[in-house]
Amino acid sequence: MTGHINIVGLGGSLALSSRSLAALRLALEGAGKAGAVTELFDVRELDLPIYDPEERNPPDSVRRLCDAVANAHGLIWSSPLYHGTISGAFKNALDWLQLLSARNPPYLTDKVVGLVGAAGGTHGLQAINTMEYVVRALRGWTVPLVVPVSRSWAAFDSSGAAADPQLAKQLKALGEEVTRMARVISAGPLTGVTAAKAATLLPVPPAK
Ligand SMILES: Cc1cc2nc3c(=O)[nH]c(=O)nc-3n(C[C@H](O)[C@H](O)[C@H](O)COP(=O)(O)O)c2cc1C
Repeated sequence: MTGHINIVGLGGSLALSSRSLAALRLALEGAGKAGAVTELFDVRELDLPIYDPEERNPPDSVRRLCDAVANAHGLIWSSPLYHGTISGAFKNALDWLQLLSARNPPYLTDKVVGLVGAAGGTHGLQAINTMEYVVRALRGWTVPLVVPVSRSWAAFDSSGAAADPQLAKQLKALGEEVTRMARVISAGPLTGVTAAKAATLLPVPPAK
């Protein structure tokens, strides 16, 4: 993971015209402008099976997602707001990141995450707050700037361009911020998690 900064975007919905996906594209554009190499994972295209903790042979889509996340310095997550929280499809994609428990270091250790929530109303922040819990559970770091998209149906045109230039600016700023912090952390991990220390942080089976 030396040299360039990899930023991976994950988001969108199963809808053909997804506003959370349009928002994610703009945030990744900001990351690209800040010098990152970006990759986008669209939840609709991924078409992931429901997470199964006993699955020993997950499909290619799962492996590609997990490998990309493991190799990323930073992530941008963009979920729709469904019934006051993140969508099931988006959460399912996050559930598959459980496969990163076996990586070294595990989960999202020393990775920076930027958060976007797209809502029909004005409560996109609720999806963002839910994602914060997940980032914490996976040992990642969120940047303080977040972008809740309100009235999503009016926020983007059919080409995915933001109707309000201020929204585009915020989304791109988020991408830039994630890239900036990913660069800082990649210069010297904040947690100093070594292989040995990471192992002590994992649940240990009881001694026989
Ligand atoms: C099943 C469902 C539940 C939703 N629940 C909420 C909600 O609780 N609050 C809200 O503001 N918008 C809600 N919406 C609107 C979506 O947040 C909005 O359409 C968003 O843009 C969907 O994401 P997408 O454009 O990426 O598909 C809901 C939409 C659907 C389909």
